[in-house]
Amino acid sequence: MTKIPRAGVIGNPISHSLSPKLHTHWLRRYGLAGSYDAIQVTEDALEQTIRALPGQGYVGINVTIPHKIRVLDFVDQVSDRATLVGAANTLTFTDDGRVLADNTDGYGFIANLRQGAPDWNPQSGPAAIFGAGGAARAIIVALADAGVPEILLSNRTRPKAEALSDEFGTRVRVVDWVQAGTMLETATTVINTTSLGMAGAQPFKVPLDDLRSDAVVTDIVYNPLRTTLLDAAAAAGCVAVDGLGMLLHQGVPGFERWFGQRPEVDDATRAAVLA
Ligand code: ATR
Repeated sequence: MTKIPRAGVIGNPISHSLSPKLHTHWLRRYGLAGSYDAIQVTEDALEQTIRALPGQGYVGINVTIPHKIRVLDFVDQVSDRATLVGAANTLTFTDDGRVLADNTDGYGFIANLRQGAPDWNPQSGPAAIFGAGGAARAIIVALADAGVPEILLSNRTRPKAEALSDEFGTRVRVVDWVQAGTMLETATTVINTTSLGMAGAQPFKVPLDDLRSDAVVTDIVYNPLRTTLLDAAAAAGCVAVDGLGMLLHQGVPGFERWFGQRPEVDDATRAAVLA
């Protein structure tokens, strides 16, 4: 009898994750046998829990906050991208129980921009990034890979931005948080990676008067879908791409590896996770 492949997402807390809705939608849509569930686990139990999963029929899992960095300490193989980003969000279990770690956040970011802004040209000018946390790291790696000529980086806590600039080289230039709005004078790609603007968090208050009309603007915040930044971008004539697609696209490589079908991200996918 063939086993039904299992996958899931591991984090703490996990109840708000949209990944179970996303993968369950794809399994139904393609008529595939499989399951995808949410696994809540503390850091103390992380390694033991993950090591036990292949024996329970799991073919892979997504990893989310706060475990994305910690998993790299004990997996058997880490992809170049996950090494560069310093975090993994997608684990695949081999038939002999080995754990392979990858990071698809950068892929999801770029795929979302390309879908939402088909004319986006990463080489057209500098990119401006607000924030210097984990999401910013993955996005810096992805943008450098896509050929962005320069990355302007601004963070409330400046030393964190400087640490990223030191790590990723001269292509990343730090701009003081007080002057973050000035990055918009030249940026043709603009990204908010902070939690500012998220429902329940503080509003996004960086002055946006200098937004160029030829900029492509995106926000990793997807609750609400239309953030203050995206509203201002649309009003300035920019192409505004919401952050939900990054989450949906980052799930594509894992689903394909685990269930053997490359899934679509389209309006039906968005509706399924927003339902
Ligand atoms: P993630 O992994 O999603 O990037 P994170 O690592 O906690 O999450 O990073 C959150 C980002 O939002 C950081 O850049 C943080 O700035 P600090 O490094 O100064 O903490 C930014 N952020 C959160 N709240 C903020 C606020 N009220 N004002 C400005 N930036 C804020």
